[in-house]
Amino acid sequence: MYATEFQESLKAVEAAREANIACEPARMTAKEKEDLLAAYHPDYKKSEFATLRVGPNKGEAVPRELCELLEANSRIHADDVDLSDVRYDVDVLVIGGGGAGASAAIEADAAGARTMIVTKLRIGDANTMMAEGGIQAADKENDSPAIHFLDAYGGGHFAAKRELLAKLVCEAPEAIAWLNNLGVEFDKAPDGTMITTHGGGTSRKRMHAAKDYSGAEIMRTLRDEVLNRGIPVVDFTAAVELILDGKGRAAGAVLMNMETRELMVARAKTVIIATGGAGRMHYQGFPTSNHYGATADGLVLGYRAGAKLLYADTLQYHPTGAAFPQQIFGALVTEKVRSLGAKLVNRQGRVFMHPLETRDVAAASIIRECTARGMGVDTGSGEAVWLDTPMIERIGGEGTIESRIPAMMRMFMRYGIDIRREPILVYPTLHYQNGGLDINVDGMTPNVENLFVAGEAVGGIHGRNRLMGNSLLDVIVFGRSAGKNAAQTAKTVRPGKPTLAHIGKFDAERAAAGIRTDAVSPRLLPDYTRRSSET
Ligand code: FUM
Repeated sequence: MYATEFQESLKAVEAAREANIACEPARMTAKEKEDLLAAYHPDYKKSEFATLRVGPNKGEAVPRELCELLEANSRIHADDVDLSDVRYDVDVLVIGGGGAGASAAIEADAAGARTMIVTKLRIGDANTMMAEGGIQAADKENDSPAIHFLDAYGGGHFAAKRELLAKLVCEAPEAIAWLNNLGVEFDKAPDGTMITTHGGGTSRKRMHAAKDYSGAEIMRTLRDEVLNRGIPVVDFTAAVELILDGKGRAAGAVLMNMETRELMVARAKTVIIATGGAGRMHYQGFPTSNHYGATADGLVLGYRAGAKLLYADTLQYHPTGAAFPQQIFGALVTEKVRSLGAKLVNRQGRVFMHPLETRDVAAASIIRECTARGMGVDTGSGEAVWLDTPMIERIGGEGTIESRIPAMMRMFMRYGIDIRREPILVYPTLHYQNGGLDINVDGMTPNVENLFVAGEAVGGIHGRNRLMGNSLLDVIVFGRSAGKNAAQTAKTVRPGKPTLAHIGKFDAERAAAGIRTDAVSPRLLPDYTRRSSET
């Protein structure tokens, strides 16, 4: 139940609902999209970016906050650590306990490698767990990996590394089968066929889901598999620096106990960075749908060791973050809500964009509606537009919301808002890091041998914008592949003498560039300390 200040706008939304269900505005032309993005998408706001002065991507622009991390001081000095005092000795070291890390560890273990996961929180505390809408795979008769490729390639502004995207879509049906066999409870029709829906930018219904807690269901299953296999998981322990060998190859990591700050050495023949995203950096002051640990750690670890970034200047702002009430500000309102028929409408109840536009276009349209057009609703903590959820039951019948998006229903019901009867207020929220570390098709970084990357820490799979459901997919496809390849590589690796010399080298480069800062990285946890001026 909303307070009186929204009543006038709510009445307009209700009055227009029937007409809006039938209303389908034309898709934007390529030129219209380009102009819209240039004017309203946060990625195009030049003043929010800074140029890197050091490292493999020197001269390139990245978000200001990320630039600060990439140019920051290491948390350690090389002589803080006795590299001969080895606490853990494994073939494959997986850094990160989310979907990509777990998938990688399962496959590395299955390939016979001595594998260990290290995670700064607990296994499963990750963005995978937060994913709601689903996972794409072209496994229906009217679909194919080629069509999936075209949707994703166009949606990503034709910038994806084609060999990575081809791998993603071609291995998608097998990824679904693998998860299904492991025990993921996908939504199925009574005859056992998987129920699939559309997402923004898809030309076929290929979104497989477990209601609207798809990520939690997948993570539950992967975590069980990791634990059942007896793969060691060292939790509440962060990787703070990679260890290289004399030839510049990855050879382990320096770990830090998050509570005691004790430093430990993990020696490994191959290392997989699977540290996830960066939403908790709150780029440009945006709220986020991300997990508490999403602070771009893997990008920092890889970059300082010499690995290159790709498209680190492009982020995804999910169009529908919760904008009201304030307690859930920025929380994800799954795109599945729109897949099921709810449309975005402005203060006057007018539909202002085609429902199947890609996320970057949808986010920019909402920002334009709330800024230039003055058609947003004032929530008390910003502007927002309506997502007309009661349309879902009008289209799909009574009970659709409870059976298909129960988590959404519960999230709003807690604040007295029944989304079956009342629309909800939404605004873009920082959701995904499109860019990340560059990899080849085997998942290894081209510049640092024996260093693999999987999941959201990778850049280039999706280009400059990702379609819904392709992230859970890349977590599985590239996680599994990194695990298999890292295990295979580990069989032949003879690591040289371990060293942390790259820290000193990077420091020298920073000094030469005139960088003086107190900042340290990786950040590990977001800084929500209340400043004295705010109290
Ligand atoms: O809207 C969503 O459920 C998000 C899915 C995704 O980012 O893939």
